[in-house]
Amino acid sequence: MEPFNIAIDGPAGAGKSTIARLVAERLGFIYVDTGAMYRAVTWKVLQLNLPSEQMEQIGHTAEMMQIELKRGNAGQQVFVDGADVTNEIRLPAVTNLVSHVASIGRVRELLVHKQQQMATSKGVVMDGRDIGTHVLPDAEVKIFLTASVRERAERRFRELTQSHPELKLETLEADIARRDKLDQEREISPLVRAEDAVLLDSTSMGINEVVDSILQICRNKV
Ligand code: C5P
Repeated sequence: MEPFNIAIDGPAGAGKSTIARLVAERLGFIYVDTGAMYRAVTWKVLQLNLPSEQMEQIGHTAEMMQIELKRGNAGQQVFVDGADVTNEIRLPAVTNLVSHVASIGRVRELLVHKQQQMATSKGVVMDGRDIGTHVLPDAEVKIFLTASVRERAERRFRELTQSHPELKLETLEADIARRDKLDQEREISPLVRAEDAVLLDSTSMGINEVVDSILQICRNKV
């Protein structure tokens, strides 16, 4: 099979990264988590204590910093200016600010360019919000993966409840709904299903079922 690109978009907590990683493994493709790149910029903004309304300064920071995605044993590792920030970019402080940072035009411009470069040789599974619509509009396979807000919150809750027993399901549900709204309503590249993307609602599907469906879509399309 000739190498091709797969774009997987969808709202927060739909399981995109788990699914995209597994699909990439099965096909021997490279997995690129674009959300991690927006999180990396947000992490840097917090490190520098930049006020969130300083859009120009945030854009400049994104220009000056180096983001690297590396394949580690436990999945993708993220480095900012040489420091491993893989775990820190998942902290609530980053999650709370990331959709704001991701709405800044200069930040998007820089990261989209980087993402497009990563996919030039094909054989990439990229997940995000605007991959099928803006980053890789020519991707051979496009998936829009979603699930109900409640189901997505429950999945996050099961994931986080061991390490953060204080977390409440309702808080997670509100956070996911808030991020959905910000991502869907932003001016530049909002979260929207590409016309040619296949819609997969994973509310009552298991992980393997979703992975198998995507592999089947790949077989039919390429
Ligand atoms: O996928 P994840 O939840 O880690 O993404 C974090 C945030 O980054 C999203 O809520 C969204 O605001 C932003 N994002 C984006 N475009 C992408 C990937 C992520 O705007 N391609």
